[in-house]
Amino acid sequence: MTTYLITGGAGFIGSHLAQVLSARGETVRVLDNLASGKLQNLEPARQGKGEFSFLEGDIRDLATCREAMEGVDYVLHQAARPSVQRSIEDPLATHSVNATGSLNLLWAAKEAGAKRVVVASSSSIYGDVEPADAPKEETLPPRPLSPYAVSKVAMENYCAAFYKVYGLETVCLRYFNVFGPRQDPDSPYAAVVPKFLFALNSGQAPTVFGDGRQNRDFTYVDNVVAANLAACTAPEAPGLAINVAAGVSHDLIDLLEVLGELTGGAAQPTFGPPRAGEVRYSLASLDRARRVLGYEPLVDFREGLARLAELARQGRYLS
Ligand SMILES: NC(=O)c1ccc[n+]([C@@H]2O[C@H](COP(=O)([O-])OP(=O)(O)OC[C@H]3O[C@@H](n4cnc5c(N)ncnc54)[C@H](O)[C@@H]3O)[C@@H](O)[C@H]2O)c1
Repeated sequence: MTTYLITGGAGFIGSHLAQVLSARGETVRVLDNLASGKLQNLEPARQGKGEFSFLEGDIRDLATCREAMEGVDYVLHQAARPSVQRSIEDPLATHSVNATGSLNLLWAAKEAGAKRVVVASSSSIYGDVEPADAPKEETLPPRPLSPYAVSKVAMENYCAAFYKVYGLETVCLRYFNVFGPRQDPDSPYAAVVPKFLFALNSGQAPTVFGDGRQNRDFTYVDNVVAANLAACTAPEAPGLAINVAAGVSHDLIDLLEVLGELTGGAAQPTFGPPRAGEVRYSLASLDRARRVLGYEPLVDFREGLARLAELARQGRYLS
């Protein structure tokens, strides 16, 4: 029996990982301090075939990481203080969770002899590159524009060093704008897809920061789950950073138009000032993901949004 530790498993992406692994009959342990995660997100994983346990705790505490790591084969490290905006308001808090917390976790994994640690990194580490519309390849040097992006670069550097120095197998997956059910629509730091969807569904005008022509490689959560599972065993993956995305970008005005069609909501936005720390264009190269992980996006932008709009219509967005 294989045991997976999912840090941040009560959050958006972590809860999908927990659900899929538990449905496959794997042993799943979730470590989460419920800072932004919710116990309710874990219900599908609890009902799966596999043995499931939840440890409420903080990755900033090494003893907690050690306790969580006992008997673990694979670690899927999702716990973080997400959001570029939050990191601008409080960079120390972002650093302590995303950088120091990740270091604790790697140290505990190394001590316990975990087989592999797959971590959630971010497309934000690329910053703005020239030419702006070129797909971002993993070989580009990181040019972080925000404390959040810096904290993810630090985590990636620790992962690379742990692989080189201790032989702990680590893989960094650089997620590009993930969306899907359970992503929090209510927080002041909510991501753009749930914010727009819920604004349209309640007849409110969505707010666009900037001119709306900034684009993102929006990635449905099922693609991210598939990439994580592949990254646990792919022989060439250790020591690498690998993009996880759809490989197509859409700007915010496109996003609003598609959501408007799918929901029948009025899509007239109000415009606010551009936000500091955010990149303007974001498109992933998937060459490495395809080669190393055998990755292929399963669900594209429109299909993902259609699934999401339908779940929201049925009142099952959080289920
Ligand atoms: N959603 C995206 O578009 C996206 C893009 C790039 C990278 N990521 C990364 O993916 C991961 C998951 O993001 P998400 O969108 O599911 O966010 P989320 O906020 O839903 O999940 C993060 C989880 O980590 C938990 N957590 C926070 N601090 C913790 C701590 N100190 N100890 C233990 N648990 C803690 C939270 O309670 C939450 O359950 C994060 O590492 C994030 O930086 C997400």
